[in-house]
Amino acid sequence: MNGKEREKVTAIELLAAAKEARKNAYAPYSGFFVGAALLAADGEVYGGCNVESVSFTPTCCAERTALCKAVSEGKREFSAIAVVGGGKDGKTGFCPPCGVCRQMLSEFCGRDFRVILSSGDGEGEEVKVFTLGELLPEAFGTEKPFGSEKKK
Ligand code: THU
Repeated sequence: MNGKEREKVTAIELLAAAKEARKNAYAPYSGFFVGAALLAADGEVYGGCNVESVSFTPTCCAERTALCKAVSEGKREFSAIAVVGGGKDGKTGFCPPCGVCRQMLSEFCGRDFRVILSSGDGEGEEVKVFTLGELLPEAFGTEKPFGSEKKK
């Protein structure tokens, strides 16, 4: 298996983990269910789902749920995240991380951190891979951008 093929397997495995995490999404207000799977540098995968609140603002996105789970277990370095989202019909589509999640990811992840998205399940599924640098070229935090200073 060459490097590109290995990368593809990882992307598909991570997407599968994100789809699994999505099953636990708590989204009674928006009806939009999101799952994420974050790959730590040591190979561990952390799943996360969105968790909504009746007062809306405290809602936690799937990506930040996964990130907080990993960081709270001592992880500080990550290489990729897969994200899937969709409505009650079970169908998922491209679900790029929101601006808040991009900023939060930049706290720990480098510009080359990969963000893996899928058009949905089944035949013709299209996978798109971006870098965090592409999705958030000008992150806030000019002195410590993109996980350049790993917090202990
Ligand atoms: N959501 C995520 O979980 N991740 C994103 O990047 C975008 C939005 C959630 C928040 C809310 O529960 C629902 O999707 C609708 O905005």
